[in-house]
Amino acid sequence: MNTKVSTTLNKQWWHDAVVYQIYPRSFCDANGDGIGDLAGIIGKLDYLQKLGINLIWLSPVYKSPMDDNGYDIADYQDIAAEFGTLAEIERLIAEAAKRDIRILMDLVVNHTSDEHPWFLAAKSSPNTPYRDYYIWRKPQADGSPPDDQRSFFGGSAWEFDEASGEYFFHLFSKRQPDLNWENPAVQQEVHQMMNWWLDKGIGGFRMDVIDLIGKQVDDKILTNGPRLHPLLQEMHRASFGPRNVLTVGETWSATPQIARMYSDPAREELSMVFQFEHVTQTWDPEHGKWKPRPFDLVEFKRIIAKWQTELADSGWNSLFWNNHDLPRAVSKYGDPGRFRVESAKMLATALHCLKGTPYIYQGEEIGMTNVRFDSIDDYQDIESLNFYRERTAAGVPHADMMEGIYANGRDNARTPMQWDDSFNAGFSDGTPWLKLNPNYRQVNAEAALADPDSIFFHYQRLISLRKESEVMVYGDYQQLLEEHPQVFAYQRRLGEQRLLVLNNFSAQPVELDLPTELTGIEGQGLIGNYSLRHRLDERVSLAPYESFVMAFSLTSSPT
Ligand code: NOJ
Repeated sequence: MNTKVSTTLNKQWWHDAVVYQIYPRSFCDANGDGIGDLAGIIGKLDYLQKLGINLIWLSPVYKSPMDDNGYDIADYQDIAAEFGTLAEIERLIAEAAKRDIRILMDLVVNHTSDEHPWFLAAKSSPNTPYRDYYIWRKPQADGSPPDDQRSFFGGSAWEFDEASGEYFFHLFSKRQPDLNWENPAVQQEVHQMMNWWLDKGIGGFRMDVIDLIGKQVDDKILTNGPRLHPLLQEMHRASFGPRNVLTVGETWSATPQIARMYSDPAREELSMVFQFEHVTQTWDPEHGKWKPRPFDLVEFKRIIAKWQTELADSGWNSLFWNNHDLPRAVSKYGDPGRFRVESAKMLATALHCLKGTPYIYQGEEIGMTNVRFDSIDDYQDIESLNFYRERTAAGVPHADMMEGIYANGRDNARTPMQWDDSFNAGFSDGTPWLKLNPNYRQVNAEAALADPDSIFFHYQRLISLRKESEVMVYGDYQQLLEEHPQVFAYQRRLGEQRLLVLNNFSAQPVELDLPTELTGIEGQGLIGNYSLRHRLDERVSLAPYESFVMAFSLTSSPT
């Protein structure tokens, strides 16, 4: 095993790439059954090409009973009928390639569906070799579960199997049994399956909760288990290592030091990981996401500075505001009302000018917002529904639980993509599987494409800047105005080149005194959501949610 952490950064093709995440169920429905599908995605590739993205992270489209919308896979080598066919995904890969877009498949191998043939076989008899593909334990003497470990979706992590009198382990729903990664046969099956997809020409994998695969259940070690990194090194060797693809791990438990272990190329594990420290700082430390805390900009800046500097020379950051499990960026960190457009653009600039690979979640590029359905019956997400049931039964008032769901529930991100202001926002001719956000008449892709000043074109410009500006990709990060309660300011530095990025995270105008070394500087305004700035005066005023980026060179500036 290679344990070295290197200190130099070799350029990789994905360093200046931008990834767009598609949640297929909610993206575009071509056949009118109310559920998005592969044909729908193919029909929107020109839109994505126009945006300028390089990769699509496709949330799971595999055969599945859809207990967790496809994160419960019944066949890794087949496509769910509601999404399409294998021929259609091959067509998607080929059509995307024509537009220089590569597909990242979602690799969900911490668990399978309980309808996966491996689990069906495992359940059929304690003596089949498949039994050991999963994690089984005997009950305690009184018949209760082996221990008190809890599922992330509520309730015990152990489910009783009547037939064998044993419990199996599931960290998500009871229909998502955890695979036993201690079993070499499981490892080999997964490597083979990955190679089968790689042979189809995909651009890599997003790896679902990959930090859980090294778990030691009996010691109650779930994340960052002792076998995690050796397992990933083995996976690298046996599958994607020689293929030059992008791999990104979902790792809720990563610290910068751990992220370097995953993403230092010398260690031959992953390209990068998603870390969630900036997300969880808005959750109550005791009650979690269902009891949100207000966003704290100063704390956010401390977190970002830490990750930017600690992964500066080895490892690589992934950059994101939201995904299919998180609330909409503009609702969480910006203003979904009066300053929706300004704040969505500001958030885009603030994120895309950092060092790392940016991820855009579908609809973010048009400023889609959270949704507030009146009734819990309008929600579909298994996590929200389980916790609603569990907590209201335990006495949490309905209204408090709904506030938690409005703030952080996963259906915020899953309402159908808003393509235009027609019936069902152009998403489907049928009845959408989840209700639409009623603001689709104003907030939609067609309106964005008709307005050269839209959020869409702001993203387009940021994506193309990344291709033009080396300092944006490789410059180091210097935090400015650490304690300022409204402004997120930083510089990127590469040789003599500088990028100054100023973002007002509030609806109040701000007057700033910049550090003396920045005053009087002249440069080139690259992007702004009010106007471009080519010069910095001693005092800089920022309008509500204003942000701008100025490039300059030390040699051309009077300092
Ligand atoms: C993380 C995925 O992003 C989420 O949607 C899913 O429910 C869990 N992993 C379980 O696969």
